[in-house]
Amino acid sequence: LGFSSTSNREELITGLDDNNVTENIASRVGRNLHLQPNHPLHTIKQKIETHFLTLHTSFETYSNLSPIVSTKNCFDDLLIPPSHVSRSPSDTYYISSTKCLRTHTSAHQSTLLKESKSKCFLCTGDVYRRDEIDRSHYPVFHQMEGVKLFEEGTHVSVIEDDLKKTLEGLTQELFGDVEMRWNTDYFPFTDPSWELEIYFNDEWLEVLGSGVIQPSIITNAGLTQPGWAFGLGLERLAMVLFKIPDIRLFWSKDERFLGQFDGGIVEFKPFSKYPSSDRDMSFWTGSQNFHSNDFAEIVRNCITEDIIESVTLIDEFTHPKTKEVSNCFRFTYRSMERSLTNEEIDRVHFKVRERAVEELGVVLR
Ligand code: PHE
Repeated sequence: LGFSSTSNREELITGLDDNNVTENIASRVGRNLHLQPNHPLHTIKQKIETHFLTLHTSFETYSNLSPIVSTKNCFDDLLIPPSHVSRSPSDTYYISSTKCLRTHTSAHQSTLLKESKSKCFLCTGDVYRRDEIDRSHYPVFHQMEGVKLFEEGTHVSVIEDDLKKTLEGLTQELFGDVEMRWNTDYFPFTDPSWELEIYFNDEWLEVLGSGVIQPSIITNAGLTQPGWAFGLGLERLAMVLFKIPDIRLFWSKDERFLGQFDGGIVEFKPFSKYPSSDRDMSFWTGSQNFHSNDFAEIVRNCITEDIIESVTLIDEFTHPKTKEVSNCFRFTYRSMERSLTNEEIDRVHFKVRERAVEELGVVLR
């Protein structure tokens, strides 16, 4: 299902009222980093798939389903309530009121439950979320979903046991002997739900979300067997395993990055660390509902190349009399691939200021 970049635009940027997909985002659809041989995301995907196929031959694998999905598949089928924040246009890229870019690979659960023969599958793909800007957040990332159904009447404790054993085995395969812990979690589509954390490099790191699939999701798909599901983020795993310090690097077309990988898990060697340069920007947020994700989106859109490392709110206060809110954001500019000149940073930064005024109605200070 590869798209050419022109058809991306036409299909994704519709100009409809609900449409909030930007050029920058549209240009990522069809890149399919997880299918690019030797790319770290592909390597991790292969490794997980091989692990599953060795242990459980019946698992089916899907990795080229279109990221354009119906809001029914992405939310309704998963029992995500209409008011849930993940549906908000400040969090999700909408093509129209009924079509969006998938926000998680769980969007394929219902369809694959119906279509899969063995009722056990892995599904990998690019997912899209409007978000903040820092070294571990990017509006496009990659997830892998796993689903397994059991015979009718299987007790929940058996399903829980199998889920935990399976995922502990996978984690061990990827990270070796690490300390792990299960925390209870909440997802609208599983009950009970857990997240798995590992102790790695002196901190607890969330690896995945999982749980026992809500029975009504299964009956709505025309089935009766109970089962489990999990979802994990590939960048998160790859950043740790390959020691990749910045999430933007996955999108690099630079041979100094891509050329380092040959299909195995190897430590990334930074080819150079170019200097960073900070700029601050202060403004009154104005009367409208200011959302920092909208601001981040403007920043990402003013910048055709990935030259922004982070945008951090460093100060916020409310005027005691007028109750107006003032924000100060610190922009850290840095390219992974070359040195930036002050002039080009100033040019981009000025554009961000202008756009924020035009599009968000903020008042610069
Ligand atoms: N879809 C969830 C997320 O993106 C992860 C998940 C998948 C949780 C399957 C439970 C079961 O965070």
